Amino acid sequence: MTFDLFDPLPADADAPAVDNLGPGAMVLRGFAREAAPALLAGVGEVSAGSHFRHLITPGGLRMSVAMTNCGQRGWVSDRSGYRYDEIDPDSGQPWPSMPRPFLDLAVRAADAAGYAGFAPDACLINRYLPGTRLSLHQDRDELDLRAPIVSVSLGLPAIFLWGGLRRADRPARVRLAHGDVVVWGGPSRLVFHGIAPLAAGDHPLTHGERINLTFRKTR
Ligand code: SIN
Ligand code: FE2
Repeated sequence: MTFDLFDPLPADADAPAVDNLGPGAMVLRGFAREAAPALLAGVGEVSAGSHFRHLITPGGLRMSVAMTNCGQRGWVSDRSGYRYDEIDPDSGQPWPSMPRPFLDLAVRAADAAGYAGFAPDACLINRYLPGTRLSLHQDRDELDLRAPIVSVSLGLPAIFLWGGLRRADRPARVRLAHGDVVVWGGPSRLVFHGIAPLAAGDHPLTHGERINLTFRKTR
């Protein structure tokens, strides 16, 4: 009797392609894996024009996640509050335009999640290093809450905290791997969410980092 030698199956080989998080909210497993190299090249282009920076919260704290933006408007925070701005306050210039692969991926993911016709005008890019976290928050600075949020995970895996509509709701812990895309809208649009402190690791494409792209329609 002979045995064929198979490569070991990847850890998530039998995981479902879609995980439901709640009404109108799901994880599309591996949806962005193929586009990932082009998306990461886009991150390099965007951050050459508008660099990653640690924003200051209205309360005066420096955020541990580093951020930049592309598209017509970018999300910024400073002592005066949170807002979307058409100008990068650091460069004094408009944000870099949204790379084509970003827009294509976001529109396809929204469509696959049941949100046809998604037209994001902003993409916030988050960069996490080991220990970086993002505390529970709602995405609610957008004027049009009918559009979903599309969130793409690249590089090191993270634990996504998926809470409820009240800050005090105890969050579920959802592992997000390279290429996973979370889409939330409708009744889940204002769910509290965050990222647990990133564990150290080495990813073939991003080495010691996790990159997250979050697409929004801001108005
Ligand atoms: C966010 O809530 O804006 C980012 C979530 C993530 O990094 O996956
Ligand atoms: Fe968010």
